[in-house]
Amino acid sequence: AETVARLCDDRELVVASNREPYSHAREDGELTVDRPAGGLTAALDPVMQAAEGTWVAWGDGDADREVVGPDDAVAVPPEDPSYDLRRVWLTDEQVEGYYRGYSNRVLWPVCHLDIAKMTPREEFWREYRETNADFADAILDSTDGADGDPVVWFQDYHLSLAPRTVREARPDAFLAHFWHIPWPSWDVFRACPQYEALLDGLLANDLVGFHTEEYCRNFLDCADAGTDARVDRSSGSVSYRGHRTFVRSFPLGIDAARQADLAESDAADEWWAQFREARGIDPSETVAVGVERLDYTKGIPERLAALERFWEENPEWRGDLTYVQKGTESRSGIAAYDALQDRVADAVERINDRFGTDEWTPVVYTTDHLPEAGIAALYREADLGLVTPVRDGMNLVAKEFAAAQTRDPGVLVLSELAGATEQLGEESVLVHPYDTAGFADAIGEALSLSRAERRQRTADLQRAVHAEDVYDWLESTFETAAAIERGRRSVRTT
Ligand code: G6P
Repeated sequence: AETVARLCDDRELVVASNREPYSHAREDGELTVDRPAGGLTAALDPVMQAAEGTWVAWGDGDADREVVGPDDAVAVPPEDPSYDLRRVWLTDEQVEGYYRGYSNRVLWPVCHLDIAKMTPREEFWREYRETNADFADAILDSTDGADGDPVVWFQDYHLSLAPRTVREARPDAFLAHFWHIPWPSWDVFRACPQYEALLDGLLANDLVGFHTEEYCRNFLDCADAGTDARVDRSSGSVSYRGHRTFVRSFPLGIDAARQADLAESDAADEWWAQFREARGIDPSETVAVGVERLDYTKGIPERLAALERFWEENPEWRGDLTYVQKGTESRSGIAAYDALQDRVADAVERINDRFGTDEWTPVVYTTDHLPEAGIAALYREADLGLVTPVRDGMNLVAKEFAAAQTRDPGVLVLSELAGATEQLGEESVLVHPYDTAGFADAIGEALSLSRAERRQRTADLQRAVHAEDVYDWLESTFETAAAIERGRRSVRTT
């Protein structure tokens, strides 16, 4: 955290994201603080504490409005206030148009190659523009009066336009943006009617980061075809409206050491013993696991179809291979998400009716909130980790699963369409999520690997996830930013 803060050179650091790092609620009259469990937030929090910066985010907690000081900000973390959390308040129309509309019904499907789900309504775009302007205003207000030019780090697809507004007001600010989801090829991206405005917003940044080289190449192609920018592929940069943007890959990682500790914790042991008992999983059973938000990009129905095929073709595994699916409710109220929730529940019921017996439930499905130690226990106990999205920017579950193999090592079955495959593909059993027959065969293949083979693969996977963890990701982002700044200064002085 100190290193990263130092790389900002004592300049004001502002992080902007749709989701907030702390949200407030009222329970039985008591004010409570929720810390989202996300690994990125947990990793960024100490950086923000060291830098004493500002985090700008949508104030979404029920009681967030109660906890405001001057400038709509509250000092966090609550036990040791050291940086400002500044909230952007959204109207119902903004939540509908900016968040549920443009972000999740236009950009999300386009970037995940599902243009049939794209719903480009005029009011979505209008609210997205307005909300990005509101974020830009909050960023500018929080940097007012700070010494020197600020460093602003935008997170994700909700905030594509805000960088342009900030750039116009603060031409010398350093602006960086990390895009957490895939960037599609030009052929797909151009299906989005606002492609030029989106690129114009993002090209106001000095640095744009993606998880993989493939997304960087796609972005450069889009900048080339969708604007009049000059794209230099050899240096990975784009010159546009008198400004140069560097495009780099920074594969996001996890806190691998923490994940391994969680897997070995007493809390994990206790949780697993209770869960197994409650859900009737016999210690002799082979366990496969899937953990995700209920999102159509995660390939859950496709995975259930492959498992069904596997049990159909391999009756000897009925009563033995149990699949545990943890599904977190997500973005409810958007038709595609509601339909997915029903589809998954129906498929689970159908498969359990078809193969289940009094002693054995093939698919153990839970939408309950699980503690982190519980999830780590699930990974640790699983013989197979099924991470098979139909499209995914990176997928950190694959990395968490690998880090949590602290005992008898399980096998990672990974979709070739996940960003994580660029780093973890070789040590995994790769599947194509839509190839049901091939996927079913791969499950059989994964189950047949010898212990020695599993050990070897797990050791290699763990080396990879520890070597490029979330702290390396933070450091390399800020080091790249510092190098770009040094380059600029030396051009100015020569
Ligand atoms: C993805 C996005 C994040 C987002 C998360 C949860 O990982 O990249 O920006 O926060 O999904 O989705 P939600 O809509 O609940 O924030």
